[in-house]
Amino acid sequence: MTDGAPLLDTLRRICGDTAVLTGGDTAAYATDWRDMFHGTPLCVVRPANTDEVARCVTSCAKAGAGIVPQGGNTGLAGGATPDASGTQVIIALDRMTAIRHIDPIGMTVEVEAGAILQTVKDAAENENRLLPLSLAAEGSARIGGLIATNAGGIDVLRYGMTRALVLGLEVVLPDGQVLSRLRHLRKDNAGYDLKQLFIGTEGSLGIVTAAVLRLVPLPRHRATALIAVPDIAAAVRLYERAQSDIGEALSAFELISGDGLALVARHMGQDAPVSGAEWYLLIEAGSSLPGLREAAEALLETAFEEGWATDGVLAESEAQADGLWQLRESLTEAEGKAGGAIKHDISVPITGIDAFLSEVGDMLRSTAPDARLNVFGHLGDGNLHYNVMNVAKADAGTVNAAVHDVVARHAGSISAEHGLGQYRVAEWARLASAPEHDLTRRIKHALDPGGLMNPGKVVPQDD
Ligand code: FAD
Ligand code: MLT
Ligand code: ZN
Repeated sequence: MTDGAPLLDTLRRICGDTAVLTGGDTAAYATDWRDMFHGTPLCVVRPANTDEVARCVTSCAKAGAGIVPQGGNTGLAGGATPDASGTQVIIALDRMTAIRHIDPIGMTVEVEAGAILQTVKDAAENENRLLPLSLAAEGSARIGGLIATNAGGIDVLRYGMTRALVLGLEVVLPDGQVLSRLRHLRKDNAGYDLKQLFIGTEGSLGIVTAAVLRLVPLPRHRATALIAVPDIAAAVRLYERAQSDIGEALSAFELISGDGLALVARHMGQDAPVSGAEWYLLIEAGSSLPGLREAAEALLETAFEEGWATDGVLAESEAQADGLWQLRESLTEAEGKAGGAIKHDISVPITGIDAFLSEVGDMLRSTAPDARLNVFGHLGDGNLHYNVMNVAKADAGTVNAAVHDVVARHAGSISAEHGLGQYRVAEWARLASAPEHDLTRRIKHALDPGGLMNPGKVVPQDD
């Protein structure tokens, strides 16, 4: 594509002049949340409905312009940031925010892709239902982005990742066709489950415009505890016991390092009620049946007796529980304020997490002796954010690859929940097998033969 002016005119005709942003007006859309990736789009177009999205996509395809779908722009892998060519069009879903319908009996909600997660959760809660997807960015992340990244967060242990919540989807395909299967069904085995093509594929195969999501009953009671543990082995033992004793109620089993809590205290001014340990767990359980608190107290008692816990607090009120979660949810922002990190979003089988941490720690001591760590994450899912700070920019690639090599030796994943975007695509290419490359390439080319849908993200450009 050489001259973008005719495409700009067409997009303005479709969506209206004020819905097409250019130049300085695109700034907030052209940089990612971490301020790590900076692009220069031809424009940002903000359609008002699915038909406008479809017509924008058709026009971009005709003009040969790359398309970058964008939701809340909170992604941590640079997937929503365009390249610097000045030719790509960001299609932002932020005007498509309707919550169309909540069914408290069928326990479903139908929403447009630009709806903000927190808003949808609040609406569900008004109907005594829970949309069980929770992450620190929920005040900004949008449903389409969460689906496109198959987001995880703190509830995965009990309710699964976003994929497990998606019952129906509406998607604009790269050729402008609209695939609409907004079914409110728990069971639907009629042919290929086509919606799966668009969940977790980061906008590389189409644009999600609406979805039907599964809701669950809103638990009436919750028990939340912050516990100091002597080491990772003890944390895993406690996890095993928690699964045995309160398993079906257990919704979060999060690991936080003492260094992480220190960052939150220093940069966010939030102090934890326990201190002095190397590792902490933030555990939550929820139930509508009585007796949850007693069960949680019994579990903690066992933990102290067995030596799996050295200190801890079981929240006495909703406000105290929220305060404990605030510590956890501030880790990413505190890390940013402290200068940022080489982020790793890894998962390994939980039984191997202790060995993984020893091996990767040993490796770092020789590769990057001045590094500081901010390790936290969803221990119950075997998913750690192994974030390495204080490394010279020139050494970042070496450290990143070395951590991923240890992950690969432990049969893990280099992208547990954040996606590949542009941040991890080269590492995926390095570590994926030939059949994985081949099948990925064939799926991409079958759906997007022009290679215009989020170019360079998820699928390596030369594949
Ligand atoms: P964006 O950032 O706008 O886009 C993300 C990707 O999806 C891009 O590739 C984009 O092209 C594509 N996309 C966006 N909308 C659409 C659409 N409608 N159709 C097709 N493709 C689309 N993630 C977790 O998994 N777990 C966490 O616990 C978690 N915690 C976070 C905490 C903080 C403080 C922050 C900043 C981020 C966190 N994230 C977490 C990452 C991020 O919030 C998620 O990846 C979220 O799903 C992104 O949603 P978004 O609407 O902001 O998407
Ligand atoms: C989290 O678990 O808080 C997120 O995935 C964010 C992060 O990794 O920084
Ligand atoms: Zn996470």
